[in-house]
Amino acid sequence: MNDISVGIIGTGKYAPERRLTNQQLESMVETNDEWIVSRTGIRERRIAAPEQATSDLAYEASVRALEAAGITADQLDLIIVATITPDMLFPSTACILQEKLGAKKAAAFDLSAACSGFIYSLASATAFMKMGMYRRVLVVGAETLSRITDYTDRNTCILFGDGAGAVVLGEVAEGRGFKSFELGADGAGGELLRLCGGGSRMPATEQSIADRRHFIEMNGRDVFKFAVRVMGSAADEALAKAGISKEDIDLLIPHQANIRIIQSAIERLNLPQEKCMINVDRYGNMSAASIPMALAEAVEEGRVKEGDTLVLVGFGGGLTWGASVLTW
Ligand code: ACO
Repeated sequence: MNDISVGIIGTGKYAPERRLTNQQLESMVETNDEWIVSRTGIRERRIAAPEQATSDLAYEASVRALEAAGITADQLDLIIVATITPDMLFPSTACILQEKLGAKKAAAFDLSAACSGFIYSLASATAFMKMGMYRRVLVVGAETLSRITDYTDRNTCILFGDGAGAVVLGEVAEGRGFKSFELGADGAGGELLRLCGGGSRMPATEQSIADRRHFIEMNGRDVFKFAVRVMGSAADEALAKAGISKEDIDLLIPHQANIRIIQSAIERLNLPQEKCMINVDRYGNMSAASIPMALAEAVEEGRVKEGDTLVLVGFGGGLTWGASVLTW
């Protein structure tokens, strides 16, 4: 075991140019801007261009993160891509990204934990590094959810967007970096949020396409209740493991699914509003990309200073949840 401190040494993000606004959605399904904003806080989301796949978004975010970290791709030892919208079933999006970046010495794999995927990936990368296996790891959350969203279903199509966020992990000074991780899963709730078509249980057939089984299916109300419960408890657990109290949080970076779920986490942690990063209004829910995008944006906006205590927390399909406490 290597008793090194592991932290984030560079961040980057990428959002596709095309915007899909609530007004545009009004002409696609029976909905309205007022309903969407009051129930979700979302005003617009980004949509990948037809020629862009998840690895293309991941590549743009990764180039920026590598530049911020001041290292080149050939110095990477490992690439983990958290995604539920890989370019294809295999090879992994991480392998496709490895080739695009020219990260010849890096091992590469995808991690599937839906919206919790980025935190699961950070924990995995940190474990590899603490074990002494790798020194520099690229962790990416990247999604093209627009490809698995049913734009005839008003319950889901208003929620999701495309984007990517990336971080480079490296050794940092003692006392800095990740202090704790809390990961969890409840497979019994898997049917609340899933995509059935195209897997080994339901290969693509004319019937599966006609039945619209290649899109996200969600029980919004139950996911909402679960999210409110675990966002608070996961953050509490991660804080307790790190020996840090709520009062010491400088910035909360929650999964950006719904403003009301974020508000409940803010209240549970007793935080003033300005100590929470919120960009769900501009991007919607980008699953595994939401937290790294919000983090990269917070860094760009100068909202993260050396020595700050950050809490990352998310939940998603699986069901899964995850939280981490780190000192910047
Ligand atoms: N526009 C107008 N009306 C709508 C819309 C819409 N877009 N969508 C649903 N409604 C209607 C419903 O049909 C329902 O009508 P009814 O009462 O006549 O049946 C009414 O609005 C209320 O619906 P609810 O589902 O109760 O609305 P709720 O307040 O729960 O908000 C929402 C729905 C926004 C989906 C909420 O439940 C939510 O955010 N859930 C969590 C979703 C989430 O975080 N998913 C994470 C996915 S992450 C991943 O792993 C990919």
